[in-house]
Amino acid sequence: MQNSDLINGKKLLKKGKLVIFPTETVFGLGGNATNSKVIKKIYNLKKRPINNPLICHFKNLTQIKKNFYMNELELKIGKLYWPGPLTLILKKKKNSKISPKLSNHSSYVGCRIPKNKIAMELLKKLDFPIAAPSANLSNKVSATRHSDIDSDLKKNIFVVKGKSKLGLESTVIQIKENYINILRYGSITEEDIRKKIKNIKIKKPIKNKLSPGNQKKHYSPNLPLRINVRKVKKNESLLNFGKNNLYSNVYNLNLSRKGNLVEASRNFFHYLNLLDRIKSAGIAVAKIPNKGLGKTINDRLKRASFKDN
Ligand code: TXA
Ligand code: MG
Repeated sequence: MQNSDLINGKKLLKKGKLVIFPTETVFGLGGNATNSKVIKKIYNLKKRPINNPLICHFKNLTQIKKNFYMNELELKIGKLYWPGPLTLILKKKKNSKISPKLSNHSSYVGCRIPKNKIAMELLKKLDFPIAAPSANLSNKVSATRHSDIDSDLKKNIFVVKGKSKLGLESTVIQIKENYINILRYGSITEEDIRKKIKNIKIKKPIKNKLSPGNQKKHYSPNLPLRINVRKVKKNESLLNFGKNNLYSNVYNLNLSRKGNLVEASRNFFHYLNLLDRIKSAGIAVAKIPNKGLGKTINDRLKRASFKDN
């Protein structure tokens, strides 16, 4: 596949510019991971605290192995899920050219190989990995459609068009000697990891200090958000799930009428972005089952509804 967006995107990245591009999870705001000036630009533009490290995107396992140490279990998990929505925290080799600024000078870096044609085409054409956080302002809602990308970001940064098929960010994990630490719930479920890797001990992200992105407040729409609602208040819009009697007098969207969590994940950020643009007193969200991808959706909802005052 070759289109003018890709050609342009590649050209800009080579010149040290930033580019917004789709991945299978959410859109990324990318730049050359080996260029510290570029990394600085990403942090500034996103208004992101410097202690919240970026994820680095690679074209293949060879490129990762050139830059990072990988033990047996890390290799096994990488091979199982890559290309795909898995971010593995790996220890960087001394000779790696990846900018220390990407991970706030820590040698532990979040790595992934995306499973999206456009992201892959871009990576294949470059001889450096791409550092890319989600393409939203810090603490705001992630974008899975071109139309949901923040208009100021879009004004200043070139966007390679496309769509994110899965709709939720990657699952961030770190391998310890004999267990897996989930640092952020994502598109790969805990249940799936347990099924594929037998008898593995898994620690969950609750109160985890290792992933600075796990702040209490995050993924927040501009409008107030209420979760697990039993009744929609007057003038609130509704983000519904499954079949029930909930109804809004302003606007109704259903993540999945069939109660399918894969479909709900795909729609989740897009619908949240849509409801945030509709005039209402706030967004009421129906209860989502807390299993599989529902755990990831509930994690995002909890942070999106967090009030700091
Ligand atoms: O699906 C995704 O992961 C998307 C696409 C664009 O790849 N990216 C993404 O990046 O969600 P971002 O920056 O929005 O979230 C990265 C998360 C944060 O919670 C961050 O704290 C954690 O990964 N993370 C990154 N590097 C880390 C590291 N070295 N140690 C611990 N946590 C890390
Ligand atoms: Mg993000």
